[in-house]
Amino acid sequence: MVLLDGKEVSRQIRAQIALEVSGLIGNGKRAPHLAAVLVGDDPASQTYVSNKEKACREVGFLFSVYRLPDSTTGEELTEVVDFINKDNEVDGLIVQLPLPPHISPTRIIEAIDPSKDVDGYHPLNFGRMALNLPSFLPATPLGILKILEHYRIETDGKSCVVIGRSQTVGTPVSLLLSRKSTPGNCTVTICHSRSHNLVEISSGADILIVAAGRPEMVGADMVKEGSVVIDVGIHRLTDANTKKGYRITGDVKFDKVAPRTSHITPVPGGVGPMTVVSLLLNTLKAYKKEVYC
Ligand SMILES: NC(=O)c1ccc[n+]([C@@H]2O[C@H](COP(=O)([O-])OP(=O)(O)OC[C@H]3O[C@@H](n4cnc5c(N)ncnc54)[C@H](OP(=O)(O)O)[C@@H]3O)[C@@H](O)[C@H]2O)c1
Repeated sequence: MVLLDGKEVSRQIRAQIALEVSGLIGNGKRAPHLAAVLVGDDPASQTYVSNKEKACREVGFLFSVYRLPDSTTGEELTEVVDFINKDNEVDGLIVQLPLPPHISPTRIIEAIDPSKDVDGYHPLNFGRMALNLPSFLPATPLGILKILEHYRIETDGKSCVVIGRSQTVGTPVSLLLSRKSTPGNCTVTICHSRSHNLVEISSGADILIVAAGRPEMVGADMVKEGSVVIDVGIHRLTDANTKKGYRITGDVKFDKVAPRTSHITPVPGGVGPMTVVSLLLNTLKAYKKEVYC
């Protein structure tokens, strides 16, 4: 069994990005610049934004964060988005989700200039992705493609089952793997909470991608011998037997499933680091105007 080491793959990609950025700066150009908007004081969102800032700074990107109070209205947030849209010194713009319940995320995402939408959530980018046109791909699905590519995992003609149909992970990754491209050309089945016979379906998969948000729901009976398993889930479970009092786990029972697989991502250290590095790749793409000229 080969461990798909997202930490190491992301380290290599970050090193390449940092080299490219130092070359740009050496040639007198400005560094790529990512702006993040954070509304409210949700601790998890604050951690996500500071992780993104750290990743940006490490590769030499500029990073700005716009912190707004929880009481911000949808109109005020749209004005901030519009202000950043017009700032020619900013290449990528992300609005950290979730937003407070009184703000519609759809309206805010639609307000982002698609050429700066490095999260790939804008309907224009989503549509372009589905049509196999140049676009910003959502970070987690892009990270999954990058890890499959790095380990030269054959996807052509393979049967791929995706558990989960969220707009940010399950649906885009299923589209991407069914596209006529490499990685891609899979025969994809997408499962969700209403799916019947989940065990039967998932145990037929050559490539199983689990993004259900259910701790350790996938056991050995759901996995085909010799298959590739990508575990997107990430959970912190209370565990009195550990020093910290908790352990981090995924949607897959790693110890039971790993011996049956040919390749598997660990949690932590699999898909998570690939997600952060994908945001950097998209920001660099926006800077180089590779998607929209
Ligand atoms: N590592 C990373 O970088 C990263 C990035 C993003 C997300 N995540 C993690 O990945 C997981 C999924 O994230 P998400 O945002 O896609 O979650 P989400 O929006 O909650 O979507 C979960 C999906 O799983 C389906 N589902 C739930 N229970 C199921 C079950 N028992 N059987 C089959 N399908 C089931 C749901 O079906 P319905 O549509 O029918 O409700 C839904 O489509 C979470 O643990 C999240 O924290 C990790």
